[in-house]
Amino acid sequence: MTLISSLGYVRVVAADTDAWRKFGREVIGFAAGTGPEPDALYLRMDERPGRIIVLPGERDRLEAVGWEVRDHRALQRVESALDAAGVAVKPLTAEEAEARRVEAGIAFTAPGGTPSEVFHGPALDHSPLATPYGNRFVTGKLGAGHVVVPVTDIDDAYGFYPRVLGFVPRGAFRIPLPPPAGPVRLRFLGTNARHHSIALMPAPKLRPPALVHVMVECETLDEVGRALDRVLAGGYHLSSTLGRHTNDKMVSFYVRTPGGWDLEVGCDGLLVDEASYTAEEITADSYWGHRWDWS
Ligand SMILES: [Fe+2]
Repeated sequence: MTLISSLGYVRVVAADTDAWRKFGREVIGFAAGTGPEPDALYLRMDERPGRIIVLPGERDRLEAVGWEVRDHRALQRVESALDAAGVAVKPLTAEEAEARRVEAGIAFTAPGGTPSEVFHGPALDHSPLATPYGNRFVTGKLGAGHVVVPVTDIDDAYGFYPRVLGFVPRGAFRIPLPPPAGPVRLRFLGTNARHHSIALMPAPKLRPPALVHVMVECETLDEVGRALDRVLAGGYHLSSTLGRHTNDKMVSFYVRTPGGWDLEVGCDGLLVDEASYTAEEITADSYWGHRWDWS
């Protein structure tokens, strides 16, 4: 459908990887992955060595959103499309590709400011997925989940993803700001049947961590509920209560990660039928729940 198959991975730099280890493994229930980068934390959801990779550093920030393509031909097409659009592209070095456990990839900054990578040929980890609670995540052709990123120029960014990378628009949320500030639209974009793999949130400027949230999908509501129990028992900041979204129908909650951005943990996400889908404008983000705590 698009040049991009799915969201492959999210790499973040973190000031406190120990806090992340506890949060990622014991609270959320990711399996321990493996990788070559010293002191990095690889959070595994499936046969990939890591879907969320937490790298030690001074300051919490998004290092890269990694988009997966089918093969080297698709990667070449993406590279040509970026070139034609005037976006500076840097091939991943052999060491960088090895660190990501992929055959090859490129790096660039997407319009709006998001550090991005496109890759093909992920190496698989065939060992049993030993999640701590026997929990399972929904990935496969739908990818790791979705990301919501702040963008400094929403029109530029919203023009880029469909035109250059072939993302399909999957509707908008009109933020009811009065003129001249509004209306402002948060844009959702898909690459497969998952309702959105990325959402673009207008922001006046990018401040670290420059990542709003990452969504991971559990197989069952009970797994979401148990994760919520662990979040509350651990005293983590619940950024939003449980609720059901109006666009992707996800039942989810949001918890503040040790990185200062939110992790959305959900289930029951909509599978979009492109044959009949038309991009909607939602006027509320949820049917029920999702009470936000901005403190
Ligand atoms: Fe989300």
